[in-house]
Amino acid sequence: MAILVTGGAGYIGSHTVVELQNAGYDVVVLDNLSNSSEKSLERVEKITGKKVTFYKADILDREALEEIFNKEQIECVIHFAGLKAVGESVAKPWEYYQNNVAGTLILVDVMRQHGVKNIIFSSSSTVYGMPDAIPVTEKSPKKDCTNPYGWTKSMLEQILSDIQKADPEWNVILLRYFNPIGAHQSGTIGENPNGIPNNLMPYITQVAVGKRPELGIFGNDYNTPDGTGVRDYIHVVDLADGHVKALKKVQENAGLCIYNLGTGVGYSVLDLVKTFEETTGVKIPYSIKERRAGDIDANYADATKAKEELGWEAKYGVKEMCADSWRWQSQNPNGYED
Ligand code: NAD
Ligand code: UFG
Repeated sequence: MAILVTGGAGYIGSHTVVELQNAGYDVVVLDNLSNSSEKSLERVEKITGKKVTFYKADILDREALEEIFNKEQIECVIHFAGLKAVGESVAKPWEYYQNNVAGTLILVDVMRQHGVKNIIFSSSSTVYGMPDAIPVTEKSPKKDCTNPYGWTKSMLEQILSDIQKADPEWNVILLRYFNPIGAHQSGTIGENPNGIPNNLMPYITQVAVGKRPELGIFGNDYNTPDGTGVRDYIHVVDLADGHVKALKKVQENAGLCIYNLGTGVGYSVLDLVKTFEETTGVKIPYSIKERRAGDIDANYADATKAKEELGWEAKYGVKEMCADSWRWQSQNPNGYED
């Protein structure tokens, strides 16, 4: 029996494939490579010394999915495949709902027709919107999202929960990620954004490697200690390990489960810049810009539930996150094109 990892060539997916293989699972990857390179999987194979079965396929392509489920013995799907750029989702809402929501509906339909009713889904802290109180627990209310991308996560949580409610044979594990950064310690796999990075850490590393002149900090008048936005950054290897631990709930037939995956500690933009400089010795020039639409002051996780129920907690701190992001970027200035 194998774990099917959709979006497994991507940033979080490739790191999760490593942790799954290291834990002894057989892994099958499906990815349409719209935002990734097959090279990530070649490097995963080098890290683990194990073969990855790969299908270049789209979750919207029912026939391709049928073929994979007919051929492979899948016991659980870890579903990363999706579009994830917040700004792009505002400009292209149809594409986001189609790819993320319609794609997942097709995937889930093929799964149930093949008797596979176990799914671990990549959700996001974005479903908490602008939280009333932090840290947020899984009981904190879901709020309005500020962009179509966020809504796809919020809607898919609802859709998967309803499917589980109607058919209790389903195990649906919703993992709400906070802000994944860092890279595998080998420096051979990591985040590889297309074009100008949307997220903070890849922007910092591209400034550090000389690809961009300076970092723009989006606002320093937030209601936070130094005025810049506060987030819960989590090492991608810890996040990947969270998926391996979440499989326990599938094996226990736990039904519907929701977990925050974060460290429980908030860092501001300036904290992260300072830690990056101290850890790597590379200076990051920056200037303060206007606030970015839709950004919130602060959010970080209460991850107690994942600790108690999954035995999972983040092992790596922000220094390791900075050091590992930098190792990846400095060894691969052009990502998988090098
Ligand atoms: P990523 O873009 O690196 O990985 C997603 C992968 O899915 C890519 O390899 C892409 O080619 C593939 N894909 C997209 N649409 C597809 C389709 N229709 N069929 C097949 N493959 C498809 O992104 P990531 O950062 O690794 O994120 C993985 C998941 O985690 C996504 O669902 C994302 O929304 C979610 N998430 C990410 C973050 C983050 O900050 N990185 C935070 C919360 C949640
Ligand atoms: N920031 C800058 N300059 C940049 C990029 C970001 O100052 O060039 C700031 C932002 O204003 C924010 C912080 O850095 O205060 C973090 O921003 P990111 O874009 O890295 O992360 P977000 O918290 O805004 O959002 C990300 C994903 C969302 C996801 C969320 C939680 O983009 O989709 O993490 O997982 F929902």
